[in-house]
Parts: sequence; structure tokens; C-alpha cells
Amino acid sequence: MKKRTEIQKHRKQHVSQRANQLSPSGIRKFFDLLSSIDGSISLGVGEPDYTTPWHIREAAIESLEKGMTMYTPNSGMPELRKELARYLKNEFGVDYDPASELLITVGGSEALDLTMRAILDHGDEVILTDPSYVAYSSCVILAEGKPVRIPTYESNNFEISAKDIEKRLTSKTRAILIGYPSNPTGAVMSRSKLAEIAVLAEKYDLTVISDEIYSKLVYGVDFTCFASLPGMKQHTVLLGGFSKAFAMTGWRIGYAAAPKEIIAAMTKIHQYTMMCVPTMSQMAAIEALRGGQESITEMVEDYNHRRLVILKGMRDIGLSCFEPKGAFYVFPSIKCTGMTSEEFAEKLLSEEKVAVVPGSAFGKCGEGYIRCCYATSLVEIEEALKRLGRFVSKYRK
Ligand SMILES: Cc1ncc(COP(=O)(O)O)c(C=O)c1O
Repeated sequence: MKKRTEIQKHRKQHVSQRANQLSPSGIRKFFDLLSSIDGSISLGVGEPDYTTPWHIREAAIESLEKGMTMYTPNSGMPELRKELARYLKNEFGVDYDPASELLITVGGSEALDLTMRAILDHGDEVILTDPSYVAYSSCVILAEGKPVRIPTYESNNFEISAKDIEKRLTSKTRAILIGYPSNPTGAVMSRSKLAEIAVLAEKYDLTVISDEIYSKLVYGVDFTCFASLPGMKQHTVLLGGFSKAFAMTGWRIGYAAAPKEIIAAMTKIHQYTMMCVPTMSQMAAIEALRGGQESITEMVEDYNHRRLVILKGMRDIGLSCFEPKGAFYVFPSIKCTGMTSEEFAEKLLSEEKVAVVPGSAFGKCGEGYIRCCYATSLVEIEEALKRLGRFVSKYRK
């Protein structure tokens, strides 16, 4: 009896150390608070304010009308993988074999998680930037790896340098995880700087995990696909998705492109956990890849306009603001108020009903900054800037 009680007690209270180590997403926290506040404006969650283009939605509706409601092959419908291979070749000039080098996943999120679980053993190190997307270090930890964060600064365009990476390499280093255009900073790394990282990958035989989910959202600069650099296809796990460029966040579909051993390992995990991506989302994705370019061009032009408005707005308020060249975020410094970014975000929400994400949610180097997503209407951006201006002038030191 005593034994049974002890066991039950242990079970009730037990949460794994891995789960305990994670903090809840600093992005979702503000999003969840927001729904209960009338008249609030969200510059919080990184999500397009567009609905998915009609021709893409129509493809999904048609698939339902045809009764396509069954599982698909685990790695994704062959037609979708073929279309994706064509797209990656056209966009970046990289050849992927649809049968063995591509995997369709539940968003870029699953692709990231699977990569870590497929390549890491206990204690393996993954080099990543600080600040960086909230899920990066969490996925490394969940796979029993160790995130090794390299500080990046506004003064260096929030870029990670090959020199800094080389200093942190150890016998435990398994991979380098980069994500440009960056969430949260909007920084885009130049081809020449990426090429320096490629030299390291070659020299030390490292895997580079390149999260290219924002590749279509760049403004006035070129995007370089890491796998397209000479010799890099064999070293790269390319992560991508449909959420951002095609305004398809709720469809939960993304992909990974990588050497076949890695894709095979990822596919095994995906088989036991997800089985496959929803069939109608795959049908929608085929249509997105075939005919989505026009709507992307329109969205990018629109985001660019909003980017310039919010950047000027931040600077007019007196906040120093790095010029983002990609994604849909600005990352202004709020150091002039003397508040921590968490304090700033909480006060701004309660006093002015504007939700932003504290920069500290993305790592230590994000402290003193806030992330504002400008994938929202111009009217809301302008109103948010007015409220932010009032708030900053009240608290400026
Ligand atoms: C940098 C980055 N990578 C990956 C994702 C995951 O996107 P999804 O799972 O919707 O494809 C996000 C979403 O915000 C992101 O910002």
C-alpha cells in the first residue's frame, strides 16, 4: 500500500527535467493575454495578416470534394515532393531527389524538431545565434543537445561570423544553426559572409541547419540559399515552409531538404509521431508552388511599404532602430527608457494596449529591444506608433 502511494505521488508530480528546462514561449504569452483586452493592437505574433490566396484555398476545397481524406505516404505526396524539387531548383539552383532528399512536415516547426532529434546524441553541441527564434534552443534541449549561443549585435548587423563560430568549435560540436532572414531582427546575411561559414563546414565536416522560412521576404537585397553555395548541399539541412510566404500559417505545412541519410532518419521519427501532413494541406501546397508567385510579389511589395513606415515611425519616436532587410519584424532598442524589455512590453500592453514581444524572449542579447511584427494593416501600424510614441516620451530617461 505504502509502495503504491509512493509511486502514485511520484507520477503525479513528475515532469521531465527536459520539459522543466524550457520556458514557455515569450511570444505566445503576450498573444494569449491580448484576446482579453478590448481595443488592443498586436505587433506580437509573426503571422501574415493576409488570408491564404484564393486559388490555394480552392485546391484544398476541391481535394475535399473529391474525397481525398486518407493518409498520404509518410514523406509527403509524391506529386508535392516533385513540385517542391522543381521549385527549389528554380529558386536556388539546387537539385534535390524528390524520393530520398525531401520530407514534407507539419510546418517548419516539425522540420526543426525532427532535424535535432535525427542528428543529435546526448550532449552534442549546436551553435546558434543570440538573439534567435525561440524554438531553436528549445528544440536542441528537447533532443538532449546543448545550445551554444553566440552573441550578435546591432553594430554587426546581427550577423554571426565564421571567426566567432570557429572559436566555439569543440569535439562535441555537431551543427551550426542559422536563420536568415532573421526572426527577430530582420537581418539578412550576405553571400560572402555565408561563404565563410561554408569554409568552416567543409573544414570541420559540420552540418549547417539553415532555416530559410523567410527566404521570399527580402527587401532590396539578395537572398542566398546556403545549400546553393559550392559543396554545401551535402552539409546542409534546409528548412522551409509555406506559412510566411504563402500566408498559410494555419495549414501547418513545411519541409526539409537534406542528404538522404538525414532525411531517412527524420522520416522514421515523423512516421511514428505525425504519420503525414494533412492531405488537404498538401494539395494546397502543390497549388501554392505552382501558381503562388504573383500573390507573393504583391505581399512583398506591401510588406516593404509597411517596413519603411514602421522603421521611420520608430526613428521619429526617437528609438534607435536597425534597418531590417528581410522577414516582417523591426527590432528597435528601448534602452532609452531604462526598462527591461519584459517590463516595457508588459507596461505598454497595460497602459497603451499594444502587444510587442520582449527581445529577451530571443536570448540575452535581445535584452533592451522589442520585436514588432509589421505584418498588420497600415492603419494599425500608425495607431500603434502613436501609442508607442506617447509611451516612450512618458518614460524616456
Ligand atoms: C524563424 C522561424 N522558423 C520557423 C518557424 C515555424 O513556422 P511554421 O511552423 O509555421 O512553418 C517560424 C515561425 O514563426 C519562424 O519564425
